[in-house]
Amino acid sequence: MTKPCRAGIALAAILVLSTVLPSAFAQHHSDNQSDKQTQSHPWMNTDLSPDERADMVLKQMTLDEKIDLVHGNGMRDWGKPRPNAYLGIGGAGFVLGVPRLGIPMIQMSDAAYGVRSSAENGRYSTALPSNLASAASWDTQAACDYGALIGRELRAQGFNMTLGGGTDLTREPRNGRTFEYMGEDPVLAGTLVGNRIKCEQAEHVIGDIKHYAVNDQESGREEVDAIIDKRAMRESDLLAFQIGVGIGHPGAVMCSYNAVNGDYACENKYLLTEVLKKDWGFKGFVVSDWGATHTTVKASAAGLDNEQPLDDYFGQPLKQAVQSGKVPMDELDDHVRRVLRAEFASGIVDYPTKKSVVDIEGGFETSRRIAEQSTVLLKNDNGVMPLDRTKLNSIAIVGLNADTAMISGGGSAQVDPPGRPASKWQARVWFPTSPQKAISAKLPGANVRFDSGENPSSAAELAKSADVAIVFAHQWTSEAMDLPNLSLPNNQDALIEQVAAANPHTIVVLETGTAVTMPWIDKVSGVVEAWYAGSKGADAVANILFGDVNPSAKLTMTFPRSEADLPHPQLVTPPPGTKVKGPNNKTILTKPTFSVHYDEGLKVGYKWYDAEKKPVLFPFGYGLSYTTYSYSGLTVKPGKETSVTFTVKNTGGQAGAEIAEVYAALPASAGEPPKRLVGWKKVQINPGESAKVSVTIDPTYLSIYDEAHDGWKLVPGDYTFMVGGSSQDLPLSAKVSLP
Ligand code: BGC
Repeated sequence: MTKPCRAGIALAAILVLSTVLPSAFAQHHSDNQSDKQTQSHPWMNTDLSPDERADMVLKQMTLDEKIDLVHGNGMRDWGKPRPNAYLGIGGAGFVLGVPRLGIPMIQMSDAAYGVRSSAENGRYSTALPSNLASAASWDTQAACDYGALIGRELRAQGFNMTLGGGTDLTREPRNGRTFEYMGEDPVLAGTLVGNRIKCEQAEHVIGDIKHYAVNDQESGREEVDAIIDKRAMRESDLLAFQIGVGIGHPGAVMCSYNAVNGDYACENKYLLTEVLKKDWGFKGFVVSDWGATHTTVKASAAGLDNEQPLDDYFGQPLKQAVQSGKVPMDELDDHVRRVLRAEFASGIVDYPTKKSVVDIEGGFETSRRIAEQSTVLLKNDNGVMPLDRTKLNSIAIVGLNADTAMISGGGSAQVDPPGRPASKWQARVWFPTSPQKAISAKLPGANVRFDSGENPSSAAELAKSADVAIVFAHQWTSEAMDLPNLSLPNNQDALIEQVAAANPHTIVVLETGTAVTMPWIDKVSGVVEAWYAGSKGADAVANILFGDVNPSAKLTMTFPRSEADLPHPQLVTPPPGTKVKGPNNKTILTKPTFSVHYDEGLKVGYKWYDAEKKPVLFPFGYGLSYTTYSYSGLTVKPGKETSVTFTVKNTGGQAGAEIAEVYAALPASAGEPPKRLVGWKKVQINPGESAKVSVTIDPTYLSIYDEAHDGWKLVPGDYTFMVGGSSQDLPLSAKVSLP
């Protein structure tokens, strides 16, 4: 046996030590490494602020490196691939990094209600309930869980930036992207999206809020010039973004396709610089919607920081504009600094992504829980729900694919079901979550039969023979289209009528992306709005139907009685604008060609129906429970922040969560719609018990936007505070005078 040499012994000792104390060894080793790295790259010192770190990197960068940071490099099916295209990982686009300075690439994926780009990467993502659905929970913790799950699943697939956070207000409910947004109230939408983004970014991805701004319909989205007065815009659509940016501090804001008051959103100085960057103090970067950049010099000066998904305007043309002095270097530096700052602030520099397997079961659990909190019970005559397991022997399940799946929302938001190829743009994707299976599982041994409803007579026949008939009705919507009307498509209204005529215990479960009209409402016993309910939608619906979960969700948009009651009874459909040849041989529009006048102004959603005294089918803030609540004891304490206190009692027989809503009517001299939502609280209450609720109100939510002075103003006078369980059921009210 030969003696081991000294070096050998030393090495063995290190190896032993390093296996015995792997983390200490690795720690020491990486400390050394990071010390060295911090010496050569002082901006890697995590004690410095994101601003300091961004400034230090910026000083090291060449002009070409700066240009690299302010544009994309293409995505699949989008123009001619650029030389760097191979560096993309299959998302919606990417921004180059600066490897010599330790700055990573930004890999983006759409992630409205789950990570979009999974199937084309051969990976898996959880589908959450749609954004509109989750908003119906009015729950900031649910919003946080939603964002955190998306953040984790993005990173597991190698992405470090999300494209999501839709926040446009529902001015036009036929908008095909309504399911990607949070409803019609700016305070609710902004608060929820802000919490989503906050928790998304806590997972170390760059967060995004979109589509800024007034992208309130999809028809002619590039032709449209949204005409809206400043005050109306600041108090509605922009307020939602203001609150979202204030709570979530997203790394990015995506400017929209449309123009606003004459200028395209991505070259609109008022929106991007005056409001977003100066007034709200936004520190991240403005990214264009895909192909929504129209110029170089104008867009750069207006405050666009990053063109996606290509480099038509912010690639070579921007470099030349800087070299020729048409774009000052300071201006380019500001764009680059903002991108860098977002990278440091979100942690994508310090926490590089590593592909990994996602927690599928955990994702299911979160998706189901949020779906349960999002499902709105709209009608429940004679206590048809919760379904009584002891009395039911047979159930008729009616509706297209209700034996296997539920519909989901299309376009760039689409999440692909597991094990399927990547879905085509605007394909109708049915998610494998089977209502029939979920309901059968609740009633083992019962006769649970299915009819697709394509032939209403055969569906009615089946319904006649069952104790209860449940119709799963769907309305599919998608990006890049609007709905012609709010009717359920494909003759489903007639189907429901026939089934209801055959069985007095008919329940309709709606899988919709926006409001629908219900000509059959008086003929059915129950209605449940399940929206696009995600990976575990059917289980969530079954839990609600059978009362294993007590419904608590409330509408975040009005369901009108008919399109005739909308601010614009006819959907505005602009004719296609004439395109011309643009950079890289693309055909482009150079300016908006059609004005859409949002002349309802401040009167968005319930504010419109209130002001116009139009009765509605179901009002904003409405939703039933299997228990009942009473409200009492309102006190309002004016102060720097007004505080509103009251008591909610659970007067029924089941524990439940009540969303208690607080509205304010401003003094008449303010010239506002009759009331606005100013706060809410969701409280869990046991039967017979009461909860004392206190809501503090941000002064901005009581203010008006004073155009003459370009600022928020509290109008002195009498304010009426109203409290209750829906915008049209407000049993408590108190008047106070505010200075
Ligand atoms: C959509 C954006 C999306 C982008 C990238 C655009 O068509 O409007 O919401 O993030 O595509 O897919």
